[in-house]
Amino acid sequence: MSDDALVLSTTTPIGPFEVGRLAYGCWRFSGSSVADATAKIEAALEIGANLVDTAAIYGFGEEGFGGAEAVLGEVYAANPGLRDKTVLVTKGGIHPPVPYDSRASNLIESCEGSLARLKSDVIDVFLVHRPDLLASYDEVAEALTQLRAAGKIREAGVSNFTHTQIRALQSKLDFALAANQPEFSPLAIAPLDDGTLDIAQELNLAIMAWSPLGGGRLTAVHQPEAGTQEARVLAVLDGIATRDGVGVDHVALAWVLAHPAVSMALIGTQNVDRIKDSAKAYDVTLSRQDWYDVLVAARGVPMP
Ligand SMILES: NC(=O)c1ccc[n+]([C@@H]2O[C@H](COP(=O)([O-])OP(=O)(O)OC[C@H]3O[C@@H](n4cnc5c(N)ncnc54)[C@H](OP(=O)(O)O)[C@@H]3O)[C@@H](O)[C@H]2O)c1
Repeated sequence: MSDDALVLSTTTPIGPFEVGRLAYGCWRFSGSSVADATAKIEAALEIGANLVDTAAIYGFGEEGFGGAEAVLGEVYAANPGLRDKTVLVTKGGIHPPVPYDSRASNLIESCEGSLARLKSDVIDVFLVHRPDLLASYDEVAEALTQLRAAGKIREAGVSNFTHTQIRALQSKLDFALAANQPEFSPLAIAPLDDGTLDIAQELNLAIMAWSPLGGGRLTAVHQPEAGTQEARVLAVLDGIATRDGVGVDHVALAWVLAHPAVSMALIGTQNVDRIKDSAKAYDVTLSRQDWYDVLVAARGVPMP
């Protein structure tokens, strides 16, 4: 291994919890049978992915609002002891048919609905799903403060917030936000330059990267159009994957995890074998050159 290899740790803190750097995302979970869903959670735990991420809205348009949480709740109910083996993250504030609603009353109601569906006494980390431009930071802070004081959530955080939105919300709280969940992958590189990853380091926020495989576009089965960002990135990932004897998806996950501000990658595969295989990401030894080669492919221009 060269002395500039980007060696990946396999665990990371989020608030008071220590969790795997690969975490399991339940966006695509609704509609699973309890047996299938249990197998996915157990596969995730097998690779140390003990943080489970869901949201009240997951399932909307398929099984319905709350559908993904309801499946996870059934899994917990059917498997005594399982809830305590996971760090449970859910999100509220998208309340159809209104796109975003982070009024204090709605965030509190949303969290209570999540607790009931998840058959849990407490949410470990509760996130405001998206910034609601019509909710004041005072009322969002009021909701998070009340939920925490009532013991309904242990920690609070945000998702898809800009660095200025995070700073504004943090200024209204007398406890530290624990996390931000932005989209981040070689196909979604804005957080590198827009302040998202900087404020995370400044405030010690855990960064939970969503769609680390671009929602399936950074996989061997995806056929990108020639000359596109996807094609450039996949070509570089493929070179590293062939060298290291892993899949392009594992290299993409390693690239995401190699950034010093990124705490975890939220994997979203519904395939048990792929969940287990994701751990190969920890074995990828990217050099600094590899990491920057992927970035150059993503940007489409050389480093300055
Ligand atoms: N905060 C937010 O606003 C937000 C938004 C979106 C997502 N999220 C979170 O992020 C999590 C992950 O998002 P994501 O599902 O988009 O993640 P992802 O891991 O980027 O993409 C998952 C998709 O890639 C496919 N895939 C993965 N590996 C593959 C392989 N080797 N070959 C072929 N296909 C493969 C999966 O299909 P198979 O199931 O067939 O493997 C699945 O459709 C979500 O579950 C959610 O928790 C958060």
